[in-house]
Amino acid sequence: PQKALSATDIRARKGAEPLVCLTAYTTPVAKIADTHCDLLLVGDSVGMVLHGLHSTLGVTMEMMILHGQATVRGAERALVVVDMPFGSYEEGPAQAFRNAARLMAETGAGAVKLEGGTHVADTIRFLTARGIPVMAHVGLTPQAVNAIGGYRVQGRGADAERIRADARAVAEAGAFSVVLEKVPAALADAITAEIAIPTVGIGASAGCDGQILVIDDMLGLFDAFKPKFVKRYAHLATDASAAIAAYASEVRARTFPAAEHMFDDEGAGS
Ligand code: KIV
Ligand code: NA
Repeated sequence: PQKALSATDIRARKGAEPLVCLTAYTTPVAKIADTHCDLLLVGDSVGMVLHGLHSTLGVTMEMMILHGQATVRGAERALVVVDMPFGSYEEGPAQAFRNAARLMAETGAGAVKLEGGTHVADTIRFLTARGIPVMAHVGLTPQAVNAIGGYRVQGRGADAERIRADARAVAEAGAFSVVLEKVPAALADAITAEIAIPTVGIGASAGCDGQILVIDDMLGLFDAFKPKFVKRYAHLATDASAAIAAYASEVRARTFPAAEHMFDDEGAGS
């Protein structure tokens, strides 16, 4: 099997071929995505797309560990990054290290991701100095939804300088890459040009060093709502509904199971 990519390999892709990133939460989906992707993020979006939560705030360390373990089992080549859930790092570097080390040790992932800019720079510096590669996440940071007052575009007009300062701070603190979420395209391009680490866009710009989407969004599996930045490359919820409807009607008509799905009283077959 091919050797897995490291955070250092991802960092070295700055300005080169775009980084292909997706979220993943389970072994079978990680297996499918691994052959096409450079990085698989076990995002705390798992709480919304797989567990029915209305925000990411209720996601726990235990959820991230279980989904991290499942994803690592399915990935051979891509770097697996696990999100630090809300409340697991904000108290400061020591708390962040304790929880990041647990995520890395119990899942076998190659890096963690946490949200925030200037106010988490010290934490990023502390973790990277102690062997934990950190991916940062600036712009729209969903764990701050209650403080921001919704999932709106960040960094428009005079607010751009705040996002630029955040991106600079996390790059200087040693993050190996940074997610830029829901910011104006021109701002994403300016940040990509001015920092030394790869930018990974979601609702940002095609000029970023890479792109990421939530896999359930791009497959059309999660259809509770669709942000403008999501492109649906498949419609699996529609396909699944049609398949289940066909099964239901065959069960009711007693046409499933058919002869080939049933056993007789003879023979050695299974
Ligand atoms: O949780 C998540 O899926 C994320 C990506 C959207 C970047 O943080
Ligand atoms: Na996240």
